[in-house]
Amino acid sequence: MRSLTAFLATSATLSVTTALISPDGVGRLPAMGWSSWNEYEDRINETVFIRVAELLNELGLKDRGYEYVNIDDTWSDKENGRDEETKVLIPDAVKFPRGISHLADKVHELGLKLGIYSDAGSTTCGGYEGSLGYEEIDAATFAKWGVDYLKYDNCDVPEEWNDEWRWWPELWYGGPPRENQSEGDPGYTSGLPAPDGYDWATSNTSRRFLAMRDALVKQDRTIQYSICAWGHAHVDQWGGDTGHSWRMWGDIYPIWEGTYTWSWGLMPILNHAAFFTSAGDFWAHNDYDMLEVGNGNLTLEENRSHFALWAALKSPLIIGTPLEGIKPEILDILSNRELIAFNQDTKYGISAIPYKWGTNPDFTWNQTHPAEFYVGPSSKGLHVFVLNSFNKTVKKEVNFAEVPGLKGGRKQKYRVHDMWTGKELGVHKGGITLKLKAHDTAALRITEVNGRHPAPNFKTPRNWGQIPKPSVPKPGRKPSWW
Ligand SMILES: *[C@@H]1O[C@H](CO)[C@@H](O)[C@H](O)[C@H]1NC(C)=O
Ligand SMILES: *[C@@H]1O[C@H](CO)[C@@H](O)[C@H](O)[C@H]1NC(C)=O
Ligand SMILES: *[C@@H]1O[C@H](CO)[C@@H](O)[C@H](O)[C@H]1NC(C)=O
Ligand SMILES: *[C@@H]1O[C@H](CO)[C@@H](O)[C@H](O)[C@H]1NC(C)=O
Ligand SMILES: *[C@@H]1O[C@H](CO)[C@@H](O)[C@H](O)[C@H]1NC(C)=O
Ligand SMILES: *[C@@H]1O[C@H](CO)[C@@H](O)[C@H](O)[C@H]1NC(C)=O
Ligand SMILES: *[C@@H]1O[C@H](CO)[C@@H](O)[C@H](O)[C@H]1NC(C)=O
Repeated sequence: MRSLTAFLATSATLSVTTALISPDGVGRLPAMGWSSWNEYEDRINETVFIRVAELLNELGLKDRGYEYVNIDDTWSDKENGRDEETKVLIPDAVKFPRGISHLADKVHELGLKLGIYSDAGSTTCGGYEGSLGYEEIDAATFAKWGVDYLKYDNCDVPEEWNDEWRWWPELWYGGPPRENQSEGDPGYTSGLPAPDGYDWATSNTSRRFLAMRDALVKQDRTIQYSICAWGHAHVDQWGGDTGHSWRMWGDIYPIWEGTYTWSWGLMPILNHAAFFTSAGDFWAHNDYDMLEVGNGNLTLEENRSHFALWAALKSPLIIGTPLEGIKPEILDILSNRELIAFNQDTKYGISAIPYKWGTNPDFTWNQTHPAEFYVGPSSKGLHVFVLNSFNKTVKKEVNFAEVPGLKGGRKQKYRVHDMWTGKELGVHKGGITLKLKAHDTAALRITEVNGRHPAPNFKTPRNWGQIPKPSVPKPGRKPSWW
């Protein structure tokens, strides 16, 4: 019997017209969990995951909705790869002496689900065996082991799977690959944009991820499908048909702005996100990568902004920090009930949308000062998120007249509530001015004075925020690591 059914579901309002719909609501809301990569990279083993599963319980995070314990890259046997005869992937015998299936049992006993990792190429990003060409075998293996979630990465794609046109937003490669060029050649970024109306769902990138989707839906087990295509080939346009979530950009790093080796700070990622908020809904989520809350040198305010904005954007919330000895203030951020409730709302699936860029003119592409004002609905009311992208305290005004879903007029009154503290901020006329510390984000809930929802029919304007054609940035600079 098929336990994961893919079929078309029409959405009246959004650019997402189809979706991967799975039993028991799996993938309907953004995934929540923990992944090994940001903290452990290749230093993983069975003990790590069992301890994390215990800690998710002990710290109350499971009760807040964090349910996936995800094994990231480097779990398989790097030398031997696959069994010579069956071609089944071999787990690393030192890291997982009792196999993945044993770990799945342990994680399930603790009331949680197990995630695993593979790659739509010849090898994974860490150089371990990939799944391209082995989708059926690997999906069956994961199902047999009791795996509940697959993160499917995009490294080491063989040449015969190259795309006819290229859309690599991280580097703004908008044109066709040229025959005499290979990655890294000067001029590689140049080229014409894909023809008008080009259907990116027909790209080879889409086909590589679809092959695994098709293999997963054949299994007698529901496996959440997390596409990690880094925004390539406009995954925002076909990711919803193919998986439950899709990565929109390169890897995240715990810095506010700029890049570190091949990874990116929070502001460049948010800058990209602001243009794609209409791409998601139930069953279909833009993924801005695993949380760095609690990592590196982020300040308390930066930790808060990261969590609030990822929650507001309906990104999966996958913790990437050590849970053992976690600081109380970091646990507080990750446990914030109201932000989680917004992210996991069962009535409104859409992301918050930027309604005003703030510092810069609307739709400005700027990797240090992206859109700062966001609005989105939940069952509880209309929510406004305001980012201070400056590294000093500033005042920011939420003018009700500017907020889609609220009625204008200087005398218009609304009740305002602080989602961070859970405290009422009272009834305000015309708007509210907030004093925001450097790099902090305010998270507000706005209702009618009598507590009623001010905009129960709030919808994302069609194609809201999609990059307008003329302002697609010029091909980007070459990053230092290239
Ligand atoms: C498992 O991995 C952790 C984290 O890297 C390490 O501290 C521990 O020693 C390892 N345990 C075993 C049994 O290898
Ligand atoms: C897919 O790859 C094949 C083989 O390299 C190539 O001929 C074809 O043009 C590609 N198709 C698309 C749609 O990019
Ligand atoms: C590739 O070919 C194009 C046009 O034929 C040429 O302009 C360009 O310089 C070549 N690039 C390299 C890296 O050789
Ligand atoms: C934000 O997280 C990082 C890592 O735990 C931590 O070093 C930093 O202190 C946090 N901010 C605060 C003030 O808690
Ligand atoms: C944090 O700051 C220290 C000291 O300035 C630096 O060595 C380290 O690389 C920084 N970490 C990150 C993740 O940027
Ligand atoms: C980004 O925006 C800030 C604030 O307006 C501005 O000072 C800066 O020059 C912009 N950066 C770029 C690269 O345009
Ligand atoms: C504030 O931001 C500017 C520009 O990004 C940077 O050069 C400066 O070091 C920052 N100051 C602090 C205190 O972080």
